[in-house]
Amino acid sequence: RKSVTLQRLLDMHASGDKIAMLTCYDAAFASLLDEAGVDVLLVGDSLGNVLQGQTSTVPVSLADMVYHTASVARGRKSAWVIGDMPFDSYQASTAEAWKSAAALVKAGAHMVKLEGGGWTAETVRFLVERGIPVCAHLGFTPQTVTALGGYKVQGRDEAGAALLKKQAHELAAAGAQMLVLEMVPAALAAELTAELQIPVIGIGAGVGCSGQVLVLHDMLDITPGRRPRFVKNFMQGASSVQDAVRRYVAEVKAQTFPQDDLHGY
Ligand code: KIV
Ligand code: NA
Repeated sequence: RKSVTLQRLLDMHASGDKIAMLTCYDAAFASLLDEAGVDVLLVGDSLGNVLQGQTSTVPVSLADMVYHTASVARGRKSAWVIGDMPFDSYQASTAEAWKSAAALVKAGAHMVKLEGGGWTAETVRFLVERGIPVCAHLGFTPQTVTALGGYKVQGRDEAGAALLKKQAHELAAAGAQMLVLEMVPAALAAELTAELQIPVIGIGAGVGCSGQVLVLHDMLDITPGRRPRFVKNFMQGASSVQDAVRRYVAEVKAQTFPQDDLHGY
């Protein structure tokens, strides 16, 4: 398989070819996911929950993210690698954001992702102008779960939807080249995907996005306890982990996952 480039991802958005993304935290899974046709590996700070047993992503350090990004980078062959900027690695200043983003890029990330809208546009512009591709993340933003008042769908009312749209356009204008939308109404996500020139990757955001992402351990049904509505267990009916991941890729490409009545808002 040819290496997945940013241009290829932008072309997929333009042509409507769906992008399959999964979180990934180590070299073994990076190799497996890559072989199974996953386009983008997200080294998510969800590793705090999944690998560390934390109750949120807030305690995850930049050193943690660098360690896992380097591991994933060693295991991947052709997938695009995104490294999450953890809480307290980009909020204080653009200079601190640059140092944090550069550390992830040195570890092998092709792009960094940061949460939030409004004030983040300046940070995105700062990083992009200096040569680091950025993925934005709007809707439900786990690093600010306390401020948001819990795990809630975002952009449900008219004012919330308008703000989300405004922030998405600002981030794209600032140079963001991808956008993750988490837990937003499917109709709103589809509208934004049609409006923006950059790929919109949904998680609990409906089938109308340019692509989908899930937490690896959620879709493999390894995560203990209750799962969010937007998760589907791809191990059900699969003959192996490889088969489950191939089914995920196939369902994202065929737009049979997600199903808005089952996994959407
Ligand atoms: O950390 C993560 O896994 C994420 C995805 C849920 C988008 O940010
Ligand atoms: Na994250």
